[in-house]
Amino acid sequence: MTRLQATKNDPARFSKRRTPAIRNLGPDAARFRDEAWAGLAAPHKTLPCKYFYDASGSALFERICDLPEYYPTRTELAILEAHADEMGACLGSRCLLIEFGSGSSRKTRLLLDRLREPAGYVPIDISPAALAASVRTLHAAYPDLEVLPLCADYGDSLELPHSRIEPARRAVFFPGSTIGNFTPPDAQRFLARMARIAGPRGGILIGVDLRKAAAVLEAAYDDRAGVTAAFNRNLLARLNQEVGADFDLDRFRHRAVWYPERSRIEMHLVSTEEQEVDVAGRRFHFAAGESIHTENSYKYSPDGFAELAAAAGLTVSRVWMDERRWFSVQWLTRTDSASP
Ligand code: TRP
Repeated sequence: MTRLQATKNDPARFSKRRTPAIRNLGPDAARFRDEAWAGLAAPHKTLPCKYFYDASGSALFERICDLPEYYPTRTELAILEAHADEMGACLGSRCLLIEFGSGSSRKTRLLLDRLREPAGYVPIDISPAALAASVRTLHAAYPDLEVLPLCADYGDSLELPHSRIEPARRAVFFPGSTIGNFTPPDAQRFLARMARIAGPRGGILIGVDLRKAAAVLEAAYDDRAGVTAAFNRNLLARLNQEVGADFDLDRFRHRAVWYPERSRIEMHLVSTEEQEVDVAGRRFHFAAGESIHTENSYKYSPDGFAELAAAAGLTVSRVWMDERRWFSVQWLTRTDSASP
């Protein structure tokens, strides 16, 4: 049905390329096992947060985004809606839009609706299921747009696909305050990498969550319905299924704590009792109350983030915020480019 959907300009320019097979370049089970072993053998146990996002993790995350306590998605969407025209003007015409961790691409559509002759859209996500679903939806809604999906861990080095239309510039879209899930030194490196990908005339449109009252932050990461707890425990369920582990999910409790001096929320899975867990043939001991640190979510002040961007060779060209100043969307350009 979507194949025949015509648009005013060009009915079926990319109809032959509809829903191309997406090659999964993401980490395999052996890498998941090795990274889990390394994290669980550390003095303070950790697990890499990218493994939150399999099909059920991505679906749980979509539910988190709709929770009353989880203000970031709602606030960022409202900022995007209010200022999408200005953002579209920053991105300019014939822009190749590249998104890291695109998930459902819900926010991106607000930009795609405003872009003048976009050269293409490159959604990058670690979850093949989430990526395939979003690509299908995008093809139906934007038949003229060339969508070039990449299923990969965006922490790895990537080879970007080429669009048919020669882009005037590249822009990286990185919403959701995912930058807050990196430690500041890693965030600086990642920003610098995005700046390289964007190129001298390009830019980065990024969502950055801001510091606020502890109660608001802690509720956002520990909702009453327990969706966030289920999302956190999904890491253990995945280890059981994909790597061969025997975590008892009922013996790990979700904990989210705001540390103002570190300016971050920490997510943990806390062992409710002393226990041993087998992970692909290796045994790990847990003391009662010992935790696995699964994620950090840093919150910035506008000045603090500008400093971080500057250290990565980027200039904050525009900042849009909600009235409460809870969240910001920022347009970063390369300091070494003379663009206005
Ligand atoms: N990027 C999201 C954030 O930091 C990820 C996230 C939301 C998350 N809720 C979570 C990660 C709970 C771990 C646990 O806001």
